[in-house]
Amino acid sequence: MKSNDQWSSKFGFVLASAGSAIGLGALWKFPYMAGTNGGGAFFLVFLLFTFAVGAPMLLAEFVVGRHSQQNAVSSYESISGNPKWKWLGYLGVTASFIILSFYSVIGGWVITYLLRSFSGSLTGLPNSRYEQLFGEIIGSPSTSLITQAAFLAITIAIVQFGVQKGIETASRYMMPALFVLFLVLVARSLSLDGAMEGVAFFLQPDLTKLTAEGVLDALGQSFFALSVGISLMVTYSSYLDKNADLTGSVISVVSLNVFISFLAGLAIFPAVFAFGFEPSGGAGLIFTVLPAVFNKMAFGGLFFTIFMALLLFATLTSAFSLLEIIVSTVTRGKGNRKKVSWIAGFLVFLLGIPSALSFGVLADVSIFGRSIFDAMDFLASNLLMPVGALLISIFVSRTMKREILSSEVMMSSKIGRVIFPIWYGLIRYIVPAAILIVLITSLLAY
Ligand code: PHE
Repeated sequence: MKSNDQWSSKFGFVLASAGSAIGLGALWKFPYMAGTNGGGAFFLVFLLFTFAVGAPMLLAEFVVGRHSQQNAVSSYESISGNPKWKWLGYLGVTASFIILSFYSVIGGWVITYLLRSFSGSLTGLPNSRYEQLFGEIIGSPSTSLITQAAFLAITIAIVQFGVQKGIETASRYMMPALFVLFLVLVARSLSLDGAMEGVAFFLQPDLTKLTAEGVLDALGQSFFALSVGISLMVTYSSYLDKNADLTGSVISVVSLNVFISFLAGLAIFPAVFAFGFEPSGGAGLIFTVLPAVFNKMAFGGLFFTIFMALLLFATLTSAFSLLEIIVSTVTRGKGNRKKVSWIAGFLVFLLGIPSALSFGVLADVSIFGRSIFDAMDFLASNLLMPVGALLISIFVSRTMKREILSSEVMMSSKIGRVIFPIWYGLIRYIVPAAILIVLITSLLAY
């Protein structure tokens, strides 16, 4: 049974999954997570988890989706013949809701910075002013809520019209442009006085700085950055035809994502140390450090505006995938896409209000010692995504036949033949064991 449209090309699919993966995860969350968890040690553990856990999970989700050709909820049920597995799909949809609710808050910040840089009000300020300014922006309830709503409205408009083709085409130009601008930024940052201290912080792992919580953060980050654990990639790959190379796509998406995270670290940390900012500055890190770096460049104001526009685009392609999975699960290819998109988007907005306000009027509310925003992120990235991934790895390696898996992984893929036995070992033993160990030890450490 085929319930989905197909991607226009294999390249379109890679672009769309890369578009979902690459976004605030690599560009905003990775540097600040690394900054709060000791720099190099975090990066090392993150790399380990990305290659040994995140990447195999991505392939596992691709295999399920392409094999069943159905959305996440129906996939698990139709493959296993056991209706209980559909809850795994619903878990993913729930997590998407939560992620989009706080993702859109940061999307709103990006909009604010884009508008302000466009008006020229962000150039030429003293470095300390950028920290203050960030505090003012996120602390203002009206700015936060209006920009969050605007961000969601753009996302809804894209999903509602199903303009996925337009997005695919645009990302062919936007993503490489973002890349190039990042290289320029890295070059500028590395040439600042005192930059090497930042490079050392980021690239020399000091394992004594690593806590159990930091290890869980790194696991969560490897899932968040690749958009895995919530069956979103199951839905995405269900649109794929039978001769696409899944393994090759995983390799492209993972390497791009790791490379961008690496560039983000190299752009941020040298500047953090050169300017005397705090590496553990938290969620505001890129918003306070990057304007200061652009300030030190010829045409910095212009470049900063372009950078923010590209960042907004990358953020939207991720948000789009999150709303898309919710909408496609509800409509199942029928139903009223427009209505469902607006209702779902509106509910996401309501759920996101407390997160948006948690940097201002609700700053004193704490849930298990975290702000509302951090608690939502923790729930989604450090609990739901790992639990989802654990169950998906069990589903794939225990309910699907090895021959089916090997034919999906090897189809149209030379490298798939080499990868299959390694992947099978990882997904059957290492992935579930690693997730269980990390989850249990870090939750016990609380
Ligand atoms: N991977 C996206 C990013 O890095 C975030 C995301 C997570 C998107 C989960 C979809 C699903 O920005």
